[in-house]
Amino acid sequence: MTTLNDLAWWQKTIAYEVYPKSFLDTRGQGTGTLAGITAKLDYLRSLGVGAIWITPCYQSPMVDNGYDVQDYRQIDPSFGTMADMDELIAQGNERGIKVVMDLVFNHTSEQCAWFVESRKSREGSYADWYIWRDPAPDGGAPTNWRSIFGGSAWEWCEERQQYYLHTFAPQQPDLNWENPDVRRALIDIANFWADKGVGGFRIDAITYIKKPAVFADGPVDGEDGMSAVHAATANTPGILDFLHEFKTAVRDGRDIFMVGEANGVAANELDQWVGERGVFDMLFEFSHTHVPMGAAEVWCRPAQWQLTDLKHALTASQQATADRGWYPIFFENHDQPRSTVNFFRCDGSVAAKAKALGTVLLTLRGTPFVMQGQELGYGNRAWKSIDEFDDLQTRSQYEFALGEGFSPEEALAACNRFSRDNARTPLQWDASANAGFTAGTPWLPVHDDYATVNVEAESADPDSPLSWYRCLAELRARHSELICGSYEELMATDEQVYAYRRQGEGSAAVVLANLSGEAATYDSTLVEGMELLAGTHGPTELGTLRPLEAVVFGA
Ligand code: GLC
Repeated sequence: MTTLNDLAWWQKTIAYEVYPKSFLDTRGQGTGTLAGITAKLDYLRSLGVGAIWITPCYQSPMVDNGYDVQDYRQIDPSFGTMADMDELIAQGNERGIKVVMDLVFNHTSEQCAWFVESRKSREGSYADWYIWRDPAPDGGAPTNWRSIFGGSAWEWCEERQQYYLHTFAPQQPDLNWENPDVRRALIDIANFWADKGVGGFRIDAITYIKKPAVFADGPVDGEDGMSAVHAATANTPGILDFLHEFKTAVRDGRDIFMVGEANGVAANELDQWVGERGVFDMLFEFSHTHVPMGAAEVWCRPAQWQLTDLKHALTASQQATADRGWYPIFFENHDQPRSTVNFFRCDGSVAAKAKALGTVLLTLRGTPFVMQGQELGYGNRAWKSIDEFDDLQTRSQYEFALGEGFSPEEALAACNRFSRDNARTPLQWDASANAGFTAGTPWLPVHDDYATVNVEAESADPDSPLSWYRCLAELRARHSELICGSYEELMATDEQVYAYRRQGEGSAAVVLANLSGEAATYDSTLVEGMELLAGTHGPTELGTLRPLEAVVFGA
């Protein structure tokens, strides 16, 4: 049985995702700064947070909000300076909060010096740093692959008279990991940041780094006559060799963690990816977020789903990491809509939904990752027009929906439901203008509900989502079975309640979360001999749960 002593620091803590552009602006420029994060470290500490994953803050033209890196060793001036970053790392370390950097290594910005050189000619030392191909015999793109953000995955380059591959936007050319110089350069960058004392890395889009040996058209999967690039390039044989090399050169001998973003890895493959024999400590896999969105991630065609589908996905991931590796628990990130909309099929208060799902987030086995604003109970924003959105994927999904014959209203509704911008609106600190996020004009509109959904108001309200998150963080700290106990699903076929038991050494907890809008019942012998440790609705009646009520029992 696992005990606290067996676990590393990052397995016992709570991680928090900071989207720096929307966290706190200390300069009145409308976008957040690194100094803003440093200023709020005590707030994060009050949530039990011991690691902050900061999405890319490197120098970037910001076509994809920093996921198009120009220089991995520079801070983008909009966020501040390297001295600000050093200060954040130092202040964080003083408070027991480690900074986790986001490594975007599948691609760079087209403005990265490597690509600027590479595109110049087929000769030269950077010629082979990206994925270049001659045109097809008809002069068109080498294959029919569609990029993840829509349109062909190939872009023509006049200078070289060749196409280059971009899994994401045309401004994000894919690196050629087959080239050992590329791999060495990336390892050096990771070590540059590790040497600064960061606590770990989140590694972006990592399943796409290994391209297939032969580039061939894939089956057409939509009316645009294309095939998703994903199908041809995700999780290709040989990828793990690259990653073992990376792990040995960066991770070994350091007290850090690495979590990979791994779309395309199934729960039953997790054992090759995580743990002693694996390449990462944890892996963000998306089987549960695909439940409401569908694996094809076509927003105008969402999936039909029921609670047992979600529970099944979560249980599969829990079981796959029961004996090896570790699971990063998440329901939100900067690419997902807000969980209070995404994972509920009923009406009801957003705050109640946030508390019910927050209970699951903080009591499953693994390291919880809280997306900024999730602890306040954000809903999706009501976007009135496509012009209000910033995100390039949202615009492309909108165009795709129109092309598929959906009306502008239907296309907008799909974006309201799934847009990544729902997760990216500014963090709401208080009820003052712009929710205290900026003295300038916010780059993305502040949510309409900011007068009540904000850190200051919720800190003063014992029933708020924020107070509930703090209560659960304290509960985790006091009840080790919530951290290291085993996971056993209960009531697996129930369509209202997600229930499980966490069995520790000499102590156990049972969590019951009614994720439906109707009252629910359960067999009270499941919690026999236990006492109520925490409940979203205060005292509870044994054997019944009110709509959206979640309880934690323990003994
Ligand atoms: C990852 C990031 C996403 C970004 C994409 C391309 O999926 O999370 O925000 O757009 O990679 O870098």
